[in-house]
Amino acid sequence: MRYNRTMNGDLFDLSHNGETWTETIAEDALILRQYAVAQAPEIIAAIETVTEQSPFRHIQTPGGYTMSAAITCCGDLGWVSGPQGYRYARQDPQTGRDWPEMPAVLREIGQQAAREAGYSEFHPDSCMINRYAPGSKMSLHQDRHEQDLSAPIVSVSLGVPAMFLFGGMQRSDKTVKVPLAHGDVVVWGGVSRLCFHGVLPIKADYHPTLGQDRINITFRVVRKHRTQSI
Ligand code: SIN
Ligand code: FE2
Repeated sequence: MRYNRTMNGDLFDLSHNGETWTETIAEDALILRQYAVAQAPEIIAAIETVTEQSPFRHIQTPGGYTMSAAITCCGDLGWVSGPQGYRYARQDPQTGRDWPEMPAVLREIGQQAAREAGYSEFHPDSCMINRYAPGSKMSLHQDRHEQDLSAPIVSVSLGVPAMFLFGGMQRSDKTVKVPLAHGDVVVWGGVSRLCFHGVLPIKADYHPTLGQDRINITFRVVRKHRTQSI
């Protein structure tokens, strides 16, 4: 899919005055507000190169439900779902090929945001791309299939706004509601790494570049890096 880069879109991006600021959601969980606005056009173009190779698709949960957000991945490992559950895999089951390489511009924004949040050595081997149409949501869940839980999750929001929910270690824990706008980046790690989180149904809205869609990209370290050879 091609997103239109209209005059409007350019004006929208130019109207951003470059200001970024940080907000804390919970211990070790913060939002870098507007952090990715300047690079958003390049990030969106990079996403298009990924979706040309591994298109967005609606996957079935192991329980048999179809997820409302469409997903694709890039990097060494992508997220796949089957009757046995979720797992990371080298190949896209839909194309039978390896997931597309992670474009440098994506890796760089993930690494820069992690560094800004205090993680100087963040080397993501997986990047998940979710596309939400109006009404799509993401139920409360933990990101717990990664081997290396010392690395944070870095999550970039693009397009129409979303209401992000961030809770505790139990699904039933109270959640805070955090509005996320185009260009906001959430980084959670440390004591918050396994906190439940989700996204409320996306409201109908319009963004000059992405139209009615919201796109979220998450960068993850799935495999533990070996620092010494055995
Ligand atoms: C996720 O938890 O994988 C996605 C979060 C988001 O869309 O903001
Ligand atoms: Fe998640």
